[in-house]
Amino acid sequence: MSLISAQMKEQIEGGSWIRRMFDAGIQLKRQYGEDAVCDFSLGNPDLPPPASVAKGLRDLAEHAGEPFSMGYTPNGGSEWARNSLAAYLSKEQGIEIKGQDLVLCCGAAAGLNVFFRSVLEPGDQVLSFRPYFVEYGSYVRNHGGVFDTVPSKPDTFQLDLDALEAAITQKTRAIIINSPNNPTGVIYTLEEVKALAALLEKASRKNGRPIFLIADEPYRFLAFDGAKVPSVLPLYDYAVLVSSFSKNLSLPGERVGYVALSPRMEGRAELIAALCVANRILGFVNPPIVGQHLMAAALGTQVDASVYARRRALMADVLKDAGYEFQMPAGAFYFFPKAPGGDDLRFVNEKLMPQLVLAVPGTGFGGPGHFRLAFCVSEDVIERSREGFKKALRS
Ligand SMILES: Cc1ncc(COP(=O)(O)O)c(C=O)c1O
Repeated sequence: MSLISAQMKEQIEGGSWIRRMFDAGIQLKRQYGEDAVCDFSLGNPDLPPPASVAKGLRDLAEHAGEPFSMGYTPNGGSEWARNSLAAYLSKEQGIEIKGQDLVLCCGAAAGLNVFFRSVLEPGDQVLSFRPYFVEYGSYVRNHGGVFDTVPSKPDTFQLDLDALEAAITQKTRAIIINSPNNPTGVIYTLEEVKALAALLEKASRKNGRPIFLIADEPYRFLAFDGAKVPSVLPLYDYAVLVSSFSKNLSLPGERVGYVALSPRMEGRAELIAALCVANRILGFVNPPIVGQHLMAAALGTQVDASVYARRRALMADVLKDAGYEFQMPAGAFYFFPKAPGGDDLRFVNEKLMPQLVLAVPGTGFGGPGHFRLAFCVSEDVIERSREGFKKALRS
């Protein structure tokens, strides 16, 4: 007799391809040794946090003996932390954002969960573009919503707005975009996001209730060759920015992120109050106090992005040299090449893995026919994978 719910059983059995490859990697490393395996499966940033983080931690330690220094904070984060993030985001987004227009949460993951907990009625639909960050489906279903996807444009992975328009129904409550994108590395242009906003304005009017545009942007800091990530908050009244410091400060274990609402959104005070309650009743209670301090100490700084830029160039060279078809990622730390032969599961498991090269099948992101490589690994690992990629293609 199982002790767990049917839904959780399904979740465990379905698993995630990222996790499966991670587990396979552990096995292979045990069998062949750490250095023999080239593991591109996990987006766990390996760069050290910037010096500002260590300094923030030392400064905090000075006061750690004081009462309440590690105490509960307000559910949406401390006022000083919200205000400092608001000042930072006002510059980034090009529109004035106040501390009361945002809440801090336990990473972007919790940000999405508290948002859905706050706005979804049972059966409400949330849409995103394939391929997509696979946890979105779980986050929506956690709160009684229905998650559906529409394709992005073939090969370029830009937004297919016709497909989106055709998929919107009376039940549609939110659209999630992720730019720079995991897994494709695509950055949507300002024109695309404006066109999306116009489409959502029209659809919201027709539906008689707003459709939120959620921009999930943990990779915003990593845009290559001078590419610009458009700021969504000034572009649409019901725009919602969800992000975190997991990637730009290499702080994923400290769980600090946020949800910020467009200052053009009418009725946002009630939504902010709901987000705070959701933080509380989902059991997060408040964003971590250490994370709030580190965020405030490190705002405006980031990891050395030039390291990622060098790895991107090297990874492109390795793939090109071996003869793979791929689009150069404009941002984030992922490549999403075509799987030779078209069957990504077969290619990843039967061709790449025997060469001790670990990737994640595109199927795991709703993007079959491709595979994802996370280049948050050293240049040494990338260089070492060169022969493996060649042999996998030839075999
Ligand atoms: C696209 C995307 N969104 C959200 C997250 C969640 O990140 P976190 O909760 O650490 O901020 C991730 C993590 O990899 C991601 O890739």
